[in-house]
Amino acid sequence: MKKIVCYVVWIAAALLNGCGQQTSSSLEEEEKGLKDYYSDYFPIGVAVSPRALKTDEAELIKREFNSITAENAMKMGPIHPKENEYFWADADSIVAFAERNNMKMRGHTLCWHNQTPDWMFVDAQGDTVSKEVLLRRLKDHITSVASRYKGKIYAWDVVNEVISDQADEFYRQSAWYKICGEDYIAEAFRYAHEADPQALLFYNDYNEIDSLKRSKILKMVTDLKTEGVPIHGIGLQGHWAINEPSQEQLEQTLSDFAETGLELQITELDISVYPKEHSARERRPEDENDEFTAEKEQKQREVYDMCFTLFRKHQEDISSVTFWNISDRGSWLDNFPVRGRKDYPLLFDQNLEPKEVYQDVVDF
Ligand code: GLA
Repeated sequence: MKKIVCYVVWIAAALLNGCGQQTSSSLEEEEKGLKDYYSDYFPIGVAVSPRALKTDEAELIKREFNSITAENAMKMGPIHPKENEYFWADADSIVAFAERNNMKMRGHTLCWHNQTPDWMFVDAQGDTVSKEVLLRRLKDHITSVASRYKGKIYAWDVVNEVISDQADEFYRQSAWYKICGEDYIAEAFRYAHEADPQALLFYNDYNEIDSLKRSKILKMVTDLKTEGVPIHGIGLQGHWAINEPSQEQLEQTLSDFAETGLELQITELDISVYPKEHSARERRPEDENDEFTAEKEQKQREVYDMCFTLFRKHQEDISSVTFWNISDRGSWLDNFPVRGRKDYPLLFDQNLEPKEVYQDVVDF
């Protein structure tokens, strides 16, 4: 009898053990995220809102990503609404989430022509301020923000999108440029470096796959470097689409930028399922069909696959890849270039499930 009991216990233990192993290995597979597949390559990041961190998206973020960027919370308008008033709560909560979950944190962005508070460029009478006043305001802003997150943010997009999209124009004719000339660009990097000497400082821009725009970016960052301005990297936003970039274009872009010796990061990756349009426009009848069709999906898969193949090939030069938004549940492309036209630019669907394209990105 004793022998039989022992035997039954032994079988039960063996079975349990076996099941246990099976469960833990399938769990391991289930828990594996983009960050794990890419652990030998580069961190994989995502742009987030403070709200997302309180929803079911938080679990997905923790499983899939090891770097985050604040989608809006650190931009000048939201974080510095009045000259003597900062609003820290949203940005703080994102930094705290990154710290709690051992994620890297990118800062975005210290100087940009958009989402800038109205007070920045005018005095109490509503007149345009002088260059001296504007540079002092820029310095105050950068010093406060970069000092607050010193040691917590490892890389900052210091200056965003200052290069013009017009063929015959070098710098964007923004309020910054009109008041300060190009000097504010170098100054912004100096202010950031002074506030946090350890942080890596990036110049960030879009449509860098266009050879003309790229040549302007290359000239600017090379000149900054030559002048001894503390710039460490170039951020390629990577807002791409089913029809661009071509493989040749992306290959050329990555090699051209790598030649500068600066670090490269893909900072705002998404691949729209519509052909690329660079300007906002009115809705047209053909925009009514905004289903995620098999054809759109197939094209998107090909572009994602091509991009990640090249990112891996250039892993020596690329130090991070960040997606702009979490899932197809919502992204800025639902309202740009066409307000209200649904887009599906990310790797997760509206139920937060990985799309087919996810496999293309992690199978290599
Ligand atoms: C630019 C900015 C981002 C974001 C996107 C659109 O790429 O750098 O912060 O605003 O536009 O969402």
